[in-house]
Amino acid sequence: MIVTVGTDLVHVPALAEQLADRASAFAAKTFTEAEMAYAHGASSGRPERHLAARFAAKEATLKAFDHAAALRRVEPPSIELTSIEVLRDERGRPSLALHDAAARFAEHLGVERAQVSLSHDGDYALAFVSLSLAKAAP
Ligand SMILES: CC(C)(COP(=O)(O)OP(=O)(O)OC[C@H]1O[C@@H](n2cnc3c(N)ncnc32)[C@H](O)[C@@H]1OP(=O)(O)O)[C@@H](O)C(=O)NCCC(=O)NCCS
Repeated sequence: MIVTVGTDLVHVPALAEQLADRASAFAAKTFTEAEMAYAHGASSGRPERHLAARFAAKEATLKAFDHAAALRRVEPPSIELTSIEVLRDERGRPSLALHDAAARFAEHLGVERAQVSLSHDGDYALAFVSLSLAKAAP
């Protein structure tokens, strides 16, 4: 098993500025409807923190993909951010769902498991992502 990792730190006020219009093109090309619904319905009353953590998770995933691409000696494709989705279970644990180009690239790389951890406090939100790949390329 090979594991690659990615991390990203997001300044919450900077992201909030870009999300001032909830129906903006930036929001639509970055977050899924389920991510927007969770963030805006969260009991914290601070949707921007949850969205910043999800944005960090998407960027962290791209970094982990890039490390995996280097290991496999393949060129990473262009991956739209909505194809990397953060889900959560009934206890609040986050997980990654990969769709479209992200799912295809994960299959191409031999990714067997993708894991994510999020944190947010004050003006910053953080994500760590790990990708577990089969030792041999598919
Ligand atoms: C799980 C726990 C430690 C998270 O602490 P926290 O200070 O609220 O977490 P942060 O503010 O740093 O990060 C929040 C993120 O943690 C993640 N998170 C929440 N509950 C989680 C859990 N049970 N396991 C893993 N991650 C969790 C979520 O992604 C959340 O972000 P989101 O709401 O935007 O999705 C805390 O809720 C807790 O102590 N819960 C009760 C005990 C428990 O469930 N323990 C599990 C370990 S055995």
